[in-house]
Amino acid sequence: MTISAVPSGYRVSASRQETHDTVTLFLEPTGDPIARYVPGQFTMLYAFGVGEIPISISGPAGEHGLTQTIRAVGAVSSALCAATPRQLIGVRGPFGTSWGESDATGQDLLLVAGGIGLAPLRPALLAALDQRHRYRRIIVLVGARSPAELVFATELQEWRQRDACVEVTVDKADGTWPGNVGVVTQLLGRADLDPRQTLALICGPEVMMRLTARALLAAGLDRASIRVSLERNMQCGVAECGHCQLGPLLLCRDGPVVSYQVAEPLLAIREL
Ligand SMILES: Cc1cc2nc3c(=O)[nH]c(=O)nc-3n(C[C@H](O)[C@H](O)[C@H](O)COP(=O)(O)OP(=O)(O)OC[C@H]3O[C@@H](n4cnc5c(N)ncnc54)[C@H](O)[C@@H]3O)c2cc1C
Ligand code: FES
Repeated sequence: MTISAVPSGYRVSASRQETHDTVTLFLEPTGDPIARYVPGQFTMLYAFGVGEIPISISGPAGEHGLTQTIRAVGAVSSALCAATPRQLIGVRGPFGTSWGESDATGQDLLLVAGGIGLAPLRPALLAALDQRHRYRRIIVLVGARSPAELVFATELQEWRQRDACVEVTVDKADGTWPGNVGVVTQLLGRADLDPRQTLALICGPEVMMRLTARALLAAGLDRASIRVSLERNMQCGVAECGHCQLGPLLLCRDGPVVSYQVAEPLLAIREL
């Protein structure tokens, strides 16, 4: 088990197309695996000959292999999405902070996801569902641009069967969509939140996280009960190169998950 500047070898054991541009890769170590990880952490995935990028772990903590969900937006992410079974991928990590979902023990755990933001939240959700008795309610609110852009769509029903309250909304419906239409913050109003007994974990585009956090503050949650996952360009992953600096934070070390107390002033700082 290593955290190293040198990538560990992993092979693609399977891949699942989530949406037209998003793929979940299932990876198995070819030698020593990376160290155990906790929900919220990320790895640096290296597509040989193309480059290395940070990607959150989307599979359950404790699994032998690694599950990571990638949206193709550029050269490296497209190469990873195109990886085929048995292909070798380099993995460094795990890096960063955790969601700390168990801090909601005895309370409501609220997860709010925008788009592919459901991927980094999934390990926290799976860990909470494995310990369902610890939490009063587990509420999952998911927003996607359209029904076709919904990731992990095949799992939503299973999460409901495991006693999570799962609500989904899309910005733009097609003719067959029977569900909610509108932004994810609209779902908050229906969640009957208990502001003093709720830990909220939010992941999605920054504007979505900001608006969701503001709505939660308006509902009475305090900043310390809200956590967000922040993204900036990363290179070393080990707090040495400074690429991921955001205000006083190095996000590879102090993030990606940070309390909204810390994140609120920083969300106004745009990456250069
Ligand atoms: C801690 C962390 C966790 C992440 N987890 C995931 C994940 O689970 N799944 C996933 O698909 N992506 C994730 N990302 C984003 C991912 O790292 C970027 O999409 C990737 O670096 C793009 O690299 P590229 O070479 O494919 O594209 P590039 O050519 O580098 O970029 C292509 C386009 O994407 C934009 N872009 C690059 N990086 C980001 C970013 N961090 N956020 C938003 N836009 C970006 C660029 O501005 C450009 O427009 C994460 C990023 C961080 C920092
Ligand atoms: S990525 Fe190098 S300091 Fe964070």
